[in-house]
Amino acid sequence: MVRGVAEFAGTVRDAYGFEGATLDLGRGVHEGALERDAVVQLPLATSNRHGLIAGATGTGKTRTLQLLAEGLSDAGVAVFAADYKGDLSGLAVAAPAEGKAAERMADLGLTHEPRAFPVEFLSLGGIGPGVPVRATVTDFGPQLLAKILGSNETQESSLALVFRYADERGLALVDLADLRALLAFLESKAGKEDLAGIGGVSKQTIGVILRSLVQLEDSGGNEFFGEPQFEIADLLRTTPDGRGVVTCLELAAVQEKPRLFSTVLMWLLAELFEALPEVGDLDKPKLVFFFDEAHLLFDDATDAFLESVERTVRMIRSKGVGVFFVTQHPTDVPSSVLAQLGNRIQHALRAFTPNDADALRKTVRTYPSSELYDLEALLTSLGIGEAAVTVLDEQGVPTPVVHTRLLGPRASMDPAPDLDGPAKASMLWAKYGTRLERESAAEALAKRVESAPEPEPAAKRPAPKPAKPPTDGLNDFMTSRQGKALQREIVRGMFGMLRKRL
Ligand SMILES: Nc1ncnc2c1ncn2[C@@H]1O[C@H](COP(=O)(O)OP(=O)(O)OP(=O)(O)O)[C@@H](O)[C@H]1O
Ligand SMILES: [Mg+2]
Repeated sequence: MVRGVAEFAGTVRDAYGFEGATLDLGRGVHEGALERDAVVQLPLATSNRHGLIAGATGTGKTRTLQLLAEGLSDAGVAVFAADYKGDLSGLAVAAPAEGKAAERMADLGLTHEPRAFPVEFLSLGGIGPGVPVRATVTDFGPQLLAKILGSNETQESSLALVFRYADERGLALVDLADLRALLAFLESKAGKEDLAGIGGVSKQTIGVILRSLVQLEDSGGNEFFGEPQFEIADLLRTTPDGRGVVTCLELAAVQEKPRLFSTVLMWLLAELFEALPEVGDLDKPKLVFFFDEAHLLFDDATDAFLESVERTVRMIRSKGVGVFFVTQHPTDVPSSVLAQLGNRIQHALRAFTPNDADALRKTVRTYPSSELYDLEALLTSLGIGEAAVTVLDEQGVPTPVVHTRLLGPRASMDPAPDLDGPAKASMLWAKYGTRLERESAAEALAKRVESAPEPEPAAKRPAPKPAKPPTDGLNDFMTSRQGKALQREIVRGMFGMLRKRL
């Protein structure tokens, strides 16, 4: 295991010397000594092979994300990042000439070149600073909605049936009030036949969904669901001088709504999947998507949901999108997803408690075995801003794990002083800044439901036919929202989302 410095540098050069363009990550450390000739880098061509940034709190995950975002932007690759704490926003501001980043670059024998990057700030439905991102309920689809609502499998499949019912009748559900009105209609006497026509959905389940919906309305759902819906193409921008735009979804204001924002992140990823054409492997990806606090996505997810996540991640690669999950422990990510994350930047892990030690051993088992290091010892001894790195080489083979001291970022590591100003000055503000309020059908429908006459005795009524014209209650609903009915044929893809093409 013990090798000379020259041999170590040679090993790293052989393993990390790539033909195509790369992102510089840092320099190797062996036997406690920095080796400035041991360049550790990530090939751009395999950055669509997904990745993981992991490590205990305060070990450097966000700065690593920043470093990758900076390098990708320079290479003309668009970046999307969830900015969970707001501490990524400094990307829009050049780093100070002196300070931690400068010291790190000096240590590595490199020049510190402070620079600001082209950044776009988004917010979840306008909660907090940033251009509001919204989606219509119809587009969002039943499976992701069920995840936000914390639904069980029965509720999830019932929602899917309700969406299909709405699709078949050309009902566009714009915001949560629309969905609530529809569910209330189906739960009411007036909607009894329609509910029976859907088949397999009980009134009780509708009631449960309705109650969880009310909660969601009050905790960000009213802001997020609505129009204009965010167009996914707006994440794929480059500046006139060819730099990739870094889009930061600012989540600091919605930290206490983890189910909402983690599902919205998945929705954005799934939108990309639905909209982008197959391109196979490119020299560099079109977009790299950083999924922060990734464990939240997997917490109490149904099997069906996890399967959709797994498939989206697997298949989005050939559409030129790389996904990097950011979380504390690799084991936070289900193994079927983890197995697809070829590029690993593992920061230090703690081993204070027996649980820590257990997680550490599990983590080590997810890495290729190492001739250079005792990985368990390495992972607990890494300094801040250092990581155990392995990437996929251009042939798709994992490189040996190298203890890497990462570069200092060129943009500021402090939050940007003002997010509101740049967001409102953005061209996206003109498009999304103001919520589109259509006249709501919700009230009309509610009235209709209240004043619905008692149904006649069942024996007198004609048997329900399958292709019934809409009932009055439903008619009201359809003529609502200025008649915004779905015109096109509706095809739903992953997560039951509307399928669309860029
Ligand atoms: N590459 C780096 N160069 C210079 N300093 C760094 C680097 N990485 C991390 N640091 C220092 O370590 C601090 C903590 O890093 P960071 O915020 O990235 O940790 P984190 O793992 O994201 O923490 P948390 O889990 O709390 O979000 C930074 O504020 C910075 O001072
Ligand atoms: Mg962080």
